[in-house]
Amino acid sequence: MISRHKDRFYLYLSQAGRGRWIYEKRKEILSFCFLKSITGMAKKIMIINGPNLNLLGVREPGIYGDSSFESYLPKLRSRYEDVEIGYYQSNIEGELIGKMQEVGFSCDGIVLNAGAYTHTSVALLDCIRSLRCPTIEVHISNVHQREEFRHHSMISAGCKGVICGFGLDSYRLAIEALLAL
Ligand code: DQA
Repeated sequence: MISRHKDRFYLYLSQAGRGRWIYEKRKEILSFCFLKSITGMAKKIMIINGPNLNLLGVREPGIYGDSSFESYLPKLRSRYEDVEIGYYQSNIEGELIGKMQEVGFSCDGIVLNAGAYTHTSVALLDCIRSLRCPTIEVHISNVHQREEFRHHSMISAGCKGVICGFGLDSYRLAIEALLAL
């Protein structure tokens, strides 16, 4: 399982279809990582993005920035090597609900940017309330500095907390919040 090359030990960790090599000088640390992965101790967090967030980097860069989520995600994952960070995006309300129901009874938390559904979806609120894991509502922009219809969230009442206005860093702050629970 753990192999050695020169002065380093290597371990291949595979979780949820995502595999990666990690290496360490100390074998005990790799053994601990391996144990964490097989005993399910590694925290599992799912990031779920709603409609139009597949267009980050292209869509209104003055508001949402010029980085795509796909280029941000690896940086986020490398910051939290011990956390299994899944990602899902859909433009369809029912698909978002399907994914939340799928992961929401087994993962440690959901970071949800529901996009415009934030302001309209009773179905998402009901879904969030049905899950076992906590959900953190996230927005890239500060919705309270924008049009009035963005000031109200249908889903906040079901969420553990809300983070908005920090650009893509809002996702990292939400992960920090989940890890601190
Ligand atoms: C958003 C804010 C929403 O009002 C908007 O509809 C989005 C993105 C944000 O991340 O700032 O699609 O959730």
